[in-house]
Amino acid sequence: MNFHVLTLFPEMIESGFHTSITGRALENGTIALDTINIRDYSTNKHMRVDDYPYGGGAGMVMQAEPVHRAYQELCEKNAGKPMRVIYLTPQGRVFTQSIAEELAKEEELVFLCGHYEGIDERALELIVTDFISIGDYVLTGGELPALVMMDAIARLVPQVLNNKESAEFDSFHDNLLEYPQYTRPEEYMGRRVPEVLLSGHHAKIEEWRRQQSLIRTRERRPDLLENNPYLTEKDKKYLKDTM
Ligand code: ADE
Repeated sequence: MNFHVLTLFPEMIESGFHTSITGRALENGTIALDTINIRDYSTNKHMRVDDYPYGGGAGMVMQAEPVHRAYQELCEKNAGKPMRVIYLTPQGRVFTQSIAEELAKEEELVFLCGHYEGIDERALELIVTDFISIGDYVLTGGELPALVMMDAIARLVPQVLNNKESAEFDSFHDNLLEYPQYTRPEEYMGRRVPEVLLSGHHAKIEEWRRQQSLIRTRERRPDLLENNPYLTEKDKKYLKDTM
């Protein structure tokens, strides 16, 4: 998977992504990161990339030309290969695990990060394929949302996680929240690890974990249980019996 990020703050993307699990995956070549500084494509002698909004109003707007030129050069480097171009904006559809799964199948992904009051609409019309928000709140720019999305996507790319970090039983697997986890010691501040987890009985542990996922999802995210196609008859019975 090759991530390309068009941004005015490449160092923010580089430092965020070159850390921890994504950093390891970059080093061993499982994924690649290419940050492109939009400012390098300014044609203005002061390297400006923004200007006042037509019609008036607060703040500055990023100009279409540097964004478009940066994208065109990227397309040339990629020999015209078709690429999804994601613009991070509170006006997009809200990012979910299933969007991450869909995007993890792509070979190339381009993230376009805006700043200030956003980007001239004409650049967006010319290059963007997907408008995505990471939630109903407003941030100062698209860099943190791009990092959030890239992290969620990268960990689904085969070989990025090792066996111990497997994504198989994550929260949102089967549209449910993950069961609680415990590690040593067996007792902490008078609270014991649930006995079943010490039993070595794998079938019982699996059943307990499923039940905990169901209870936790009902308590914290009941919306995920509505029309959840992954619930088995046994799950439904358990939920009914514990009402
Ligand atoms: N840019 C500013 N706020 C944002 C958000 N919530 N999601 C994506 N991009 C953004």
